[in-house]
Amino acid sequence: MKAVVYQGPFDVAVQEVADARIEHPGDVLVRVTSSAICGSDLHMYEGRTDADAGMVFGHENLGVVEEVGSAVTRVRKGQRVVMPFNVACGFCRNCEKGFTGFCTTVNPGFAGGAYGYVSMGPYRGGQAEYLRVPFADFNCLVLPEGEENEADYAMLADIFPTGYHGCELAGVSPGETVAVYGAGPVGLMAAYSAFLRGASRVFVVDRVPERLRLAEQIGAVAVDFSSVDPAGMIVEETGGGADKGIDAVGYQARGHGDPSQEEPAGVLNALIATVRPTGALGVPGLYLTSDPGGGDEQARQGRLAFDIGLMFEKGLRMGTGQANVKRYNRQLRDLIAQGRATPSFVVSHEVALDQAPMAYDKFDRHVEGYTKVVLHP
Ligand SMILES: NC(=O)c1ccc[n+]([C@@H]2O[C@H](COP(=O)([O-])OP(=O)(O)OC[C@H]3O[C@@H](n4cnc5c(N)ncnc54)[C@H](O)[C@@H]3O)[C@@H](O)[C@H]2O)c1
Ligand SMILES: [Zn+2]
Ligand SMILES: [Zn+2]
Repeated sequence: MKAVVYQGPFDVAVQEVADARIEHPGDVLVRVTSSAICGSDLHMYEGRTDADAGMVFGHENLGVVEEVGSAVTRVRKGQRVVMPFNVACGFCRNCEKGFTGFCTTVNPGFAGGAYGYVSMGPYRGGQAEYLRVPFADFNCLVLPEGEENEADYAMLADIFPTGYHGCELAGVSPGETVAVYGAGPVGLMAAYSAFLRGASRVFVVDRVPERLRLAEQIGAVAVDFSSVDPAGMIVEETGGGADKGIDAVGYQARGHGDPSQEEPAGVLNALIATVRPTGALGVPGLYLTSDPGGGDEQARQGRLAFDIGLMFEKGLRMGTGQANVKRYNRQLRDLIAQGRATPSFVVSHEVALDQAPMAYDKFDRHVEGYTKVVLHP
């Protein structure tokens, strides 16, 4: 089958690889119809992780069940399904509590598994014609039949639940003001989710014009960090700081003073300055224990200069980590099915699998309006 294979920094190729197949009676085989490229893939694409050449990318997968293992009881051949990016067992202590992003079964020695992602277990990605889905009865979310809302439902694999998770970590409640750093797909989904949860005012900080325009389109206040100091501006506009803050950027944050430089703790520290005393921060933005391209030895080991003193002084709370997609995807699916949510507004390009190398390049450089790309194998 054809798949998107990582070759090395800034290089992916569409190649023939061994067919995905059922390896365990609890698996299903899915014929992939949509697989999106994620900002998380870019960390690997840029060579800023320990990912090895040869990896098949793709953790945002939707398709049609082609074949079911003999122990699968719920999912049936022919159903349209979307899979959380997390691979989870459903029965370990963390899964039982809904923390499916931290499953202790699927990736021994580590809490959490995913398709096509460095350190997240042996599961091949779905930017390919077919995908093997382990523990399929647990991991497949069944969708309405047909092709309707394909791009909306494709957002359920990761970014819509992840944006929602950012709000959950920060405890966004009706009437609150929320500051979101990053207007990439995750930041836009966090802002959108904040409105779904009843936020009164949402600020979205970035410097990419097309992305800031999308933030405005959903009713947020766009803040361009290349021309204003975002924390100062939001503190003033809210009369003392936003109630809640969300980091949808992560460790490759650009400096607010000088965007040509990376400032790995820049967004965390900007959030501590932006949120009012006793507020809370949700951090879905990625931080790693190993960054081969980090600016100094500390950063290469995932140790950052974080303003814990000011955070303590303000009595802020913070939640971090991979999104537990399964915890939210059913409810978010039903908002889409009922026409109450349209997360596909972030999708800028839908292209054939063969176009993946071009799409990675443009999405990575944030050019030509590349905000979110869905690949169709
Ligand atoms: N926790 C999870 O489960 C989870 C899931 C998906 C993605 N992520 C992570 O979320 C982050 C965002 O993902 P994405 O797909 O939106 O990525 P993306 O790369 O498309 O978007 C990141 C955006 O941040 C902006 N940015 C850079 N520095 C900034 C700064 N200092 N202030 C404000 N904005 C800044 C960039 O211009 C860009 O638009 C990534 O770190 C990704 O790995 C986490
Ligand atoms: Zn993703
Ligand atoms: Zn588990």
